[in-house]
Amino acid sequence: MRNIIGQAVVGDDLYGRTYELGRLWELLDHGQHILMLAPRRVGKTSLMLELRRAPRDNWDVLYIDVEGGEGPADFVAAILAALATIPRYRTLFEAIPFSTGVKKVLARLKSVAVDIDVFRVELKGALGREWVHPEDQLYARLASLPDAGVDLLIIVDELPLLISRMLRSDGGHREVELLLSRLRHWRQAPELRGRVHTLVGGSIGLEGVLRRAGLSGLINDITPFRLDAWSRTTATKFLDEAGRDSNFLLDQDSITHILELLGDPVPYHVQLFLSALRDACKGEPARISPNLIEQCFVERLAGAAGTAHLDHYATRLESAFDPEEYAMARSILSRACNRAGVSLARLKDLTKPNEATFQSVLRDLQADGYLNRQGDHLEFRSNLLREWWGKHHVS
Ligand SMILES: Nc1ncnc2c1ncn2[C@@H]1O[C@H](COP(=O)(O)OP(=O)(O)OP(=O)(O)O)[C@@H](O)[C@H]1O
Ligand SMILES: [Mg+2]
Repeated sequence: MRNIIGQAVVGDDLYGRTYELGRLWELLDHGQHILMLAPRRVGKTSLMLELRRAPRDNWDVLYIDVEGGEGPADFVAAILAALATIPRYRTLFEAIPFSTGVKKVLARLKSVAVDIDVFRVELKGALGREWVHPEDQLYARLASLPDAGVDLLIIVDELPLLISRMLRSDGGHREVELLLSRLRHWRQAPELRGRVHTLVGGSIGLEGVLRRAGLSGLINDITPFRLDAWSRTTATKFLDEAGRDSNFLLDQDSITHILELLGDPVPYHVQLFLSALRDACKGEPARISPNLIEQCFVERLAGAAGTAHLDHYATRLESAFDPEEYAMARSILSRACNRAGVSLARLKDLTKPNEATFQSVLRDLQADGYLNRQGDHLEFRSNLLREWWGKHHVS
């Protein structure tokens, strides 16, 4: 097994997610639409890509990532582009009276092999801002497809980022409402039921984004699916096997020490630790010592070198929240980042200016995996993130 750090992983490189994959397929087989709820970096995109790589019999799976999108036209262009790569659906387009511009782009696909990302950009250009009509037409064509016994799963990664960007633009609230209402229509229409399924998720929580915009009702029919970090047992096995496969065998005490330092065994953090330790030991397991493990944690993972891997925890907050919420989130995290955590009583002053904002931000910090709450006590879920936040974000 390879220790791949950074990119999403599939196939043999996706470790310890057999149960989750089985459960997702079970929910989909039961006709559910899924909202993936998960902290950062636990492997959402990897699971989504694995569903596409190895679909169950009689399933077509599309994966689109709308992180870079600005509005619903990007969303529709991405779906059209992904669908057009599957011959079964490409022929469907021929019967749709798209605009001449869109038809031209689609026609090109028949004659030359086009990179899907290029194709998607060209389609977006051809659509302009007009997305409702093409989306309607696509819906109508899918609804009229004869039932060939094949289900279609449309996976939308980073939808919350697109929605939150749209909400910040002029007229965005209305557009978000329209887009999400259309998607709900896709989920609920009898013509598509049991044939077209959706799975949405992303690196910030959609629930939080919509709650703040007063639009939660538009997703209350989707089944939540909770994905957490690895269990301690899975992380232990991973370190043992990945170490073994790279001639860098770790003993049980070292594995326990690593996992204790990390706190929550987020796959990405476990991988970073293994790689940093191996470098620190120049690949020689005989050099591993408790001191070196500690030093690796403090200097390489939580130190300046770790910022490249952990900074997204801060930047994602900035893109998810408005300035007031972002400031609130930073204050809460900064107070919670000592070893013992913090009690809610000690955050009382933060609730004074705006109790509702405080509660909403706190809920999101828990949902997105930054904080754990036990009764009135808050603490960082990941000891690595706690250590890093304390060093780089608390003045
Ligand atoms: N089950 C797994 N097995 C091996 N590596 C994993 C697993 N899950 C995640 N990873 C590693 O963690 C990193 C992040 O994975 P991925 O991009 O799938 O997570 P994500 O939850 O989508 O992250 P983000 O919150 O940034 O969107 C990658 O380096 C990937 O290799
Ligand atoms: Mg992801």
